[in-house]
Amino acid sequence: MKTELRVCFSALLVIFVAATPAVFAQTPELARTPPMGWNSWNCFRLNISDAIIRAEAEAMATNGMKAAGYEFVVIDGGWEGFHDTNGIFHSDPNRFPDMKALCDYIHGLGLKVGIHTSPGPKTCAGHEASYGHEKQDAETFARWGIDFVKYDWCSGDEVYKPDEMQTAYKKMSDDLKATGRPIFFSLCQYGMQNVWQWGALVGGQMWRTTGDISDNYNSVILHGLEQNGLEKYAGPGHWNDPDMLEIGNGKMNDEEYHSQMTLWCLLAAPLFAGNDLTKMSPATLKILTNPEVIAIDQDAAGVQGHCAWPEGPTEIWTKPLADGSTALGLFNLDAHAMTIIVNFKSLGLPETVQARDLWLRKDLGTFQHRLTVSVPRHGSVLLKVKK
Ligand code: GAL
Repeated sequence: MKTELRVCFSALLVIFVAATPAVFAQTPELARTPPMGWNSWNCFRLNISDAIIRAEAEAMATNGMKAAGYEFVVIDGGWEGFHDTNGIFHSDPNRFPDMKALCDYIHGLGLKVGIHTSPGPKTCAGHEASYGHEKQDAETFARWGIDFVKYDWCSGDEVYKPDEMQTAYKKMSDDLKATGRPIFFSLCQYGMQNVWQWGALVGGQMWRTTGDISDNYNSVILHGLEQNGLEKYAGPGHWNDPDMLEIGNGKMNDEEYHSQMTLWCLLAAPLFAGNDLTKMSPATLKILTNPEVIAIDQDAAGVQGHCAWPEGPTEIWTKPLADGSTALGLFNLDAHAMTIIVNFKSLGLPETVQARDLWLRKDLGTFQHRLTVSVPRHGSVLLKVKK
């Protein structure tokens, strides 16, 4: 009996030790809730400069976004220059003459700075990247004052075998940690090799689960809905990343942009605006900054929502919240308005609930057994319901 107990205890210990790295590999103070910020890629592509990044950072600091929780200004591909004979990474001297001064400026606005590079020799655009220079690049980034690194696979296949991918990510993560500066590590390899199963183990606070998003409804809604089933891999310190926001980039209507925000918040996804913040409409700013909607994304319980009721072209998503209430997202993927019936019992909700519409910021009253909502074409409704 005693031996059996000991065997049993040893087995438990093995399971515990095997299961814990995902939790303890994290620097717990980083990314307790999904990171928020802005990234240059979706609207500027490679056409970025010091002046553009400063203008976007100033806009974010003053237009209500910083107050709403947006924090990182991420300089995506297009900043790179060359490694000199001592192996030191330099930014493109014409576009980014002084990276440290730029980081100081952004920090002075009360914001943080992110940067993009690749484990391969070149970025996806064929610019200089970090292969063979990881440690020095991590030190250079820390010296500049970088707070976030997006590590994009790009040309990684040219130098690594598929089974070396995790080691390549862990190397940069370890080198960043060794600088002593807390630096977020964002994996970008488009979801290959089920990255959600190992992204946290190699030190990632977030990992892209998909290919690149684009500014059209099909791309956006599929990127979001595809996250269903991955909820068990997300939580405080480590998040699934279905790619950045397209809100305000001009090719969708505001209903469709609302749907991206609704879905990303239910997913507890990182929220990186991808539009030109210096030129956005009041409607775009409202979609990006509604505090009650953002509170769903940033909820302390850190649970990624899931699809609880798929029915033809409509879906009901649920996300349990720290205060015991539930966020409900009602999505209409169809090309015309649809009525969605929320049946409390089938969603495991109490018989009687109070509902609040978070986009309208309005209490809707008390409902018994069900509530019925009309949702516009490609639109969404976000409710918070409680007993
Ligand atoms: C892609 C990445 C994009 C952007 C781009 C820059 O691989 O998914 O988000 O970073 O590279 O070249």
